[in-house]
Amino acid sequence: MQSADVVILGAGPAGLLLANLLKRGGIDCVVLERTDRTRVQTRARAGFLAPNTLRILDRHGLAEGLHRNGKQHGACEFRTAEGRFRLDYGNLGRREPHTVYPQQYLVSDLLTSYLEAGGRVHFETEALAVHDTGTTRPTVAVREADGRLARWQARYVAGCDGRHGAARRSLPPGTVRHHRDHGISWLGLLAEAPPSLDAVGYAVHDRGFAGHMARTPEVTRYYLQCERGTATGDWSDGRIWDELDTRMYAAEHGPLHRGRILERGVVDFESDVIEPLRHGSLLLAGDAASLISPSAAKGANLAVLEAELLARALIADLAHGDSEALDRYSRQALEHIWRAQEFSLWMIRLLHREPAAPIGESFFHESLRRSRLESLRTSRSHQDWFAESYTGV
Ligand code: APR
Repeated sequence: MQSADVVILGAGPAGLLLANLLKRGGIDCVVLERTDRTRVQTRARAGFLAPNTLRILDRHGLAEGLHRNGKQHGACEFRTAEGRFRLDYGNLGRREPHTVYPQQYLVSDLLTSYLEAGGRVHFETEALAVHDTGTTRPTVAVREADGRLARWQARYVAGCDGRHGAARRSLPPGTVRHHRDHGISWLGLLAEAPPSLDAVGYAVHDRGFAGHMARTPEVTRYYLQCERGTATGDWSDGRIWDELDTRMYAAEHGPLHRGRILERGVVDFESDVIEPLRHGSLLLAGDAASLISPSAAKGANLAVLEAELLARALIADLAHGDSEALDRYSRQALEHIWRAQEFSLWMIRLLHREPAAPIGESFFHESLRRSRLESLRTSRSHQDWFAESYTGV
């Protein structure tokens, strides 16, 4: 049986940052990743990094690529039937912008630096289950690249393998999972088209939400609220662009730059939180710990924050014998997670048509939404609060 003090499941932002920090802290660790290296380094996901994420990466000398190629971004534009308004959130609240840096670049940077430091990653190695989490010698059952079954022994297992990973499947019976299905879905698109706005665009329309997010000068992300159950192929490219034009009020504010749709996918908005994040020798971080809807760009930023907290706690325990550090990890991380969940729910309610609500209720919801947007348009203190919450984790 192979072994490491900390076996990390998953080579996403959470797992790879944790691996970098543990390696620097002199802790023996290994990363087990289900997919291959190319997939890990090319999977397009989020791209908006919070100021705190930058501070964390800077603190550990891991932000070089980000400073070189990331672009500061601090404005969003809300479009509604009543008109549009822009919030320069980078100059509001704490006056801190986001940095746009595609998540696959960050993951590549973290992977490169970990491997250069002599770190171990086993690609195409799928964790099947974590056993004996109630003891100090947990094991991980894996399927290796050649299909052989094997086991790893650890002192701790860090579950950074997302919502469908082995860590969640291995939680003891009775673990609390606070869950909410928002009933809302997005058709997410990556278009080979230059951005049409110099800001993040949030369009609130009777037909549903539409979003615009610049990725690079050549590529733009778009989102369309769609019916639950929509399949990725249901909408033709023509329908997608027409619908984006309608919902983004192109007739009033100018047409969008069209281009080839490179990728499309449907996300159903669900949120959940596992509580606590420590179950004996199994610890959760990133999507494995909590799923957050993508409306406020919090997922990857929370993953980075949790990875740093978890690294500190593991080093405190393994290198300095502070065994309570890992319990503190769960409490600390959950505070941040619930704060992010709260803001994400506020964003969901601000931006979306309520799915299938009775007429009276729907009118009530729409009126609240208009009032919320009007307050955001006119109240400086509301704008400051928005900026702080939007960029904060
Ligand atoms: N065994 C090994 N690896 C696994 C397994 C498994 N059973 N299941 C999943 N993985 C791997 C995935 O292939 C992936 O590389 O775990 C990794 C999890 O990475 P992410 O999904 O990126 O999760 P995380 O590191 O928690 O990042 C969080 O970034 O963009 C956001 O929406 C994203 O919120 C998410 C965030």
